[in-house]
Amino acid sequence: MDVVIRKSTEDAVNFAARLLADAIKCKPDIVLGLATGRTMENLYGRLVTMHKNDKLDFSLARSFNLDEYVGLPAEHPGSYRFYMSRYLHNHVNIDKRNTFLPNGMAEDLAAECCAYEKRIKSVGGIDLQLLGIGRSGHIGFNEPLSALTSRTRPVVLTATTIAENSTLFDNPADMPRRAITMGVGTIMDCRRLILLATGESKAEIIAKAVEGPVSSRVTASVVQLHQNCTVICDEAAASQLEEREYCQWVFDNDPMWDPYR
Ligand code: F6R
Repeated sequence: MDVVIRKSTEDAVNFAARLLADAIKCKPDIVLGLATGRTMENLYGRLVTMHKNDKLDFSLARSFNLDEYVGLPAEHPGSYRFYMSRYLHNHVNIDKRNTFLPNGMAEDLAAECCAYEKRIKSVGGIDLQLLGIGRSGHIGFNEPLSALTSRTRPVVLTATTIAENSTLFDNPADMPRRAITMGVGTIMDCRRLILLATGESKAEIIAKAVEGPVSSRVTASVVQLHQNCTVICDEAAASQLEEREYCQWVFDNDPMWDPYR
């Protein structure tokens, strides 16, 4: 696991955007795994700017989102399909037929989850999965005690997550209690992970995820077991990491990061 600490939120977001852009340039038909949430809004803004100013080309890319609420139609402003159109898909040249999210309106949710897993397999798996982290320690909506081998499935959200995310709804009571999420095992199968965390509110959970024991109580801690994971934090989110000076030392001295310093 590489932990990259950047001074400001903007620096951390720009860094993550650059890694994504380089991966897209390297493999134009990349299969991207995408996340939603507040942290990603600026990141998608940056990718849109790169598309407009630097011709970052999404025409051959495919995308799979981590999760979607159960019971919200695509046109509901709280749905993740709506979020993706608003922040990314409507502003870049990705073919919308190649953008996938779990269908939270499916009558048979279990069948929908199986079909989602099959669709990911049918394109050869996810090359690069973007992750945020919730204060409950979740990646995707894998709340505490999710099996670390879990696959895409319907889940019940924790009270912490409901309190955090309901503020994004015009009417907080509209926030669903359930969602479909890729499983922890599904995420671990992705060839590369980039976890982005910004702000002081993420400091405690980032310390647990990066330096704590690998445990289903903090599902994000499983990234410690991934062979190709980069955690990107701003200084605020990294502030409770005991190894933060060492992380900086590695970043300053590892030739892998030469082009990014
Ligand atoms: C959303 C997702 C979640 C968020 C996490 C952080 O698709 O998978 O795990 O990444 O809840 O959300 P923010 O960025 O709003 O703090």
